[in-house]
Amino acid sequence: DWNMPDFMEEAIGRIRSEVGTDEVILGLSGGVDSSVAAALIHRAIGEQLTCVFVDNGLLRLNEAKQVMDTFSRNLGVKVIHVDAGKEFLGHLQGVADPEQKRRIIGREFVEVFQREAARIANARWLAQGTIYPDVIESAGGKTKKAHTIKSHHNVGGLPDTLHLKLLEPLRELFKDEVRELGLTLGLPHDMVYRHPFPGPGLGVRILGEVKYEYAELLRRADAIFIEELRASGWYEKASQAFAVFLPVKSVGVMGDGRTYDYVVALRAVKTEDFMTAHWVELPYTLLARISNRIVNEVRGINRVVYDISGKPPATIEWE
Ligand code: XMP
Repeated sequence: DWNMPDFMEEAIGRIRSEVGTDEVILGLSGGVDSSVAAALIHRAIGEQLTCVFVDNGLLRLNEAKQVMDTFSRNLGVKVIHVDAGKEFLGHLQGVADPEQKRRIIGREFVEVFQREAARIANARWLAQGTIYPDVIESAGGKTKKAHTIKSHHNVGGLPDTLHLKLLEPLRELFKDEVRELGLTLGLPHDMVYRHPFPGPGLGVRILGEVKYEYAELLRRADAIFIEELRASGWYEKASQAFAVFLPVKSVGVMGDGRTYDYVVALRAVKTEDFMTAHWVELPYTLLARISNRIVNEVRGINRVVYDISGKPPATIEWE
């Protein structure tokens, strides 16, 4: 029997004795696992930790600012903010195939991260937010998709080239324990109870070729959707919710004029393990409010649809 404050103190002691006076680097994504790992390691070794946050241009509205505010401003963690949006979008130009997009985004991430990590003198350790289910997954029976997920999340291949030792202080914890530890460390509730966000980000929520203009429209539509879900209490009832940008134009009317603009699809699912999922039966009044707000506030979108497909046969993401 153990409790979280005790586990935290023990983990801090272990990190200190393992790391000594070495420098540690960590790829901070803003997701629950890397955030909790960063907060824990910072509590243990403070200035010896440097986080690298890669903005790939495919993040949600204000996401980079939120991560920087939470870690750099509030917690005093050293975070290098790499603004690599132009670089990522440049490499994605003309690419429409979902798996190819994933590969490019993954490869770019490793490249950018490596470049930044190489500049941190004396770095001896690479810290990762690996949790117990990831450990089991790697031990055997790994699916192709699971491998893709891991390779995006966990900076695959870096230890070999950078000659870094791995520091994984969350290896024994299940997701709910990671969340509890996050709260114990003082991370904001909303950060600790965030829905999962895929490594390739909006790159797989903009169908086909990714363009800056599409990403901007999707960011604003998605932010309205999430804001309304939070305000109505439906965010917690869903396991994952997001908007998808459809690069098709349809006709609409607005005031006296005819519009010919893009479509956004909304997706909200409930699931235990993300292998199967049900779409969430959001109230019509809520859907109506979200749809009205998106069409009125995001010029360039004139139609909103709700995805009523389960998994299977559909996947949770559209790509
Ligand atoms: P699907 O779409 O396969 O998604 O039903 C299941 C869960 O996995 C997430 N997902 C990804 N996560 N890299 C990630 O890090 C990926 O390439 C990726 N593809 C899907 C998805 O958001 C959902 O939670």
